[in-house]
Amino acid sequence: MITTDIDSAANALRANQLVAIPTETVYGLAGNAFSDAAVRQIFLLKKRPAYNPLIVHIKSTDDLSLVAQHIPDMAYQLAARFWPGPLTLILEKKPHISDLITAGKKTVAVRIPRHPLTLDLLHRLDFPLAAPSANPFGSISPTSAHHVAAYFKDNLEVILDGGNCEQGVESTIIGFENNQVVLYRHGAVATDEIAAIAGPLKVHTSDNMAPVSPGMLSRHYSPQTTTVLTDDIGNCVKDFYGKKIGVLVFSQTLTDEKIAHQEVLSAGGQLAEAARNLYASLHRLDRLQLDVIVAERLPEVSLGLTINDRLERAAKQ
Ligand code: TXA
Ligand code: MG
Repeated sequence: MITTDIDSAANALRANQLVAIPTETVYGLAGNAFSDAAVRQIFLLKKRPAYNPLIVHIKSTDDLSLVAQHIPDMAYQLAARFWPGPLTLILEKKPHISDLITAGKKTVAVRIPRHPLTLDLLHRLDFPLAAPSANPFGSISPTSAHHVAAYFKDNLEVILDGGNCEQGVESTIIGFENNQVVLYRHGAVATDEIAAIAGPLKVHTSDNMAPVSPGMLSRHYSPQTTTVLTDDIGNCVKDFYGKKIGVLVFSQTLTDEKIAHQEVLSAGGQLAEAARNLYASLHRLDRLQLDVIVAERLPEVSLGLTINDRLERAAKQ
């Protein structure tokens, strides 16, 4: 059921059921973080491998002590600047945090989401919410309640509808290794905003063999349709003449009648708007029975880095 009724979401979560929740980044598939049964259900429904840990969503920085310990001062500084918001911190976990959530790691991922419905929900609950993005493992993340319903309507009693996600790409993930601040996943907070507080970041965003953070897997966030990423979209499209071609461009539409469908991420060339539209555009393209999606690489700055990261993973065979 798609609803805006926070009480029914809270009741379902108290009864150990899963609920889809809106956040400012993407929708999450949430369960009681203190219930192994609920957490196990998240992995089952998402078909998520057990080595892929979950983010714990809390309502206030005070609640950090419920899940993490030995928290570096820099973590508090970043939290003060970006929470509630799309920054996930990897911290040493409290012993009682389940190995299911952390995939056996000594660390736990934590953030405070910035969506009024979900913050209200968290305040009504006496437990934090474990929640990955509400999509089957490896597929395109949902940025509307409708996207979630298309994946899981038969399996979820409650999909809490908070409208279209304001940021549209997942949180940025930051950790701390030997007093260094490390970037594990590009996300909705641009890295230069983090570097302004934390200094230069060590970048550790791809590692296929033993992913510290499975958003690192080279193929992820993927449409079913074959996807190609290019720096030269006008020419690349020509390689697929004769096929049913969909195109994803940053701001400039192509004039080429051989293209079956085009998605423009931001006509005004705004990266934040492009990020907000990215997954909805991919969902639409993926429903059109195309032979190929040709996507244009965005400028390699700020949120352009995050969008390109997702497109690269979407395009990996
Ligand atoms: O914006 C978001 O982060 C959304 C919303 C729902 O909060 N959630 C999200 O969750 O993107 P998910 O599960 O799709 O991605 C979580 C990422 C994964 O790449 C996971 O590997 C990483 O967080 N992660 C979780 N715990 C970790 C840990 N202890 N160390 C390193 N990475 C971790
Ligand atoms: Mg995900």
